[in-house]
Amino acid sequence: MSALMPTYARLPVTFSHGEGVYLFDTEGRRYLDGISGIAVNGLGHNHPGVTAAIQDQAGKLVHTSNLYGVGPQEELASRLAEISGMERCFFGNSGAEANEAAIKIARLHGHNRGIEKPAIVVLENAFHGRTMATLSATGNRKIQAGFEPLVSGFIRAPRNDLEAIRQIAVNNPDVVAFFAEPIQGEGGVHPLDEDYLRSVRALCEEQGWLMMLDEVQTGNGRTGTWFAYQGMGFTPDVVTTAKGLGNGVPIGACLARGEAAATFGPGHHGSTYGGNPLVCAAALAVVEAITGEEVLANVEQMGALIRDVITSDQAAAPRIKEVRGRGLMLGFQLDRDCPGLVQEALEAGLLINVTAGNTVRLLPPLIISEQEARELAEGVANLIAGL
Ligand SMILES: Cc1ncc(COP(=O)(O)O)c(C=O)c1O
Repeated sequence: MSALMPTYARLPVTFSHGEGVYLFDTEGRRYLDGISGIAVNGLGHNHPGVTAAIQDQAGKLVHTSNLYGVGPQEELASRLAEISGMERCFFGNSGAEANEAAIKIARLHGHNRGIEKPAIVVLENAFHGRTMATLSATGNRKIQAGFEPLVSGFIRAPRNDLEAIRQIAVNNPDVVAFFAEPIQGEGGVHPLDEDYLRSVRALCEEQGWLMMLDEVQTGNGRTGTWFAYQGMGFTPDVVTTAKGLGNGVPIGACLARGEAAATFGPGHHGSTYGGNPLVCAAALAVVEAITGEEVLANVEQMGALIRDVITSDQAAAPRIKEVRGRGLMLGFQLDRDCPGLVQEALEAGLLINVTAGNTVRLLPPLIISEQEARELAEGVANLIAGL
């Protein structure tokens, strides 16, 4: 019996190493990674720049705490601010922690305005993490069950329903923020409409709410821009990210601008490890690689190619009800549940994911080549055709 708490139903495979888009198991079998450790290894496995940065920093300094200045943390905050249009950054160790920081900023922002019980608007089907506040913000009753009492102060609205948000504004003077994923990932790859997001931005301005986006999964190049909101014609007040930022080292970031950036002062929030020299050196190497190696253009091209190959497969196409997502965050909703598909893919040497019961989710490394993208797409098409 494993000594681990069984919080995950794990697949029967253990990997020993990886190279680029491939992982190798302890028996020496090779797998094409179509999931990147759940949108984490954007630069694939053993990326030379990231590996060198980790090795170099490990030989100098791993941790000092945030009681002192941390050079790589300052540098990373500046780079992320430049990339995102934000002004300031708080570092934690995961997506959930990045979101906790955002939730605390929203609440403190409310208290600063004299609102004693500040509320945050969140969406049905959202996923924001597993800590108590982020679980409460998550719109999935199944994963909340058994953990009540949940954290109060969240008001839920249906996705892409502007009128519902307007009604909430009319009926709830205590709302201080809107918080959502631009593309709901764990909930089945459901993008929010750009028009909806632009209208929510305008409503937030009108109401004095913070617009906060959870880009834990969509950030760091996953959708073809550094953040998914970029190119939509607006800037949020707060953005959270994690996953791809460290390519596997645990890091989360909460970025903010304007009033939101000025909310936290000494003692308001903290993390012993958050933004330590090792993880920030790794993340700086990630930033350099994604901004410098034409990775973002590759994301768009390979995303389009994978979509095309799968949807033009004559045997697979009739089983596909809808294709959703952007860049290399793709969901293929099938006309039936496919509980055995991940295991079948594993046996065929492919790592994929199924979410919401019937949606094949692909999150391959952003550096996937054309040949590898074809190999993944043809393999997935065959699996869907065989259902
Ligand atoms: C959109 C989003 N937010 C938050 C999280 C939680 O991140 P973590 O597991 O690093 O705490 C996830 C993880 O899947 C996510 O997809």
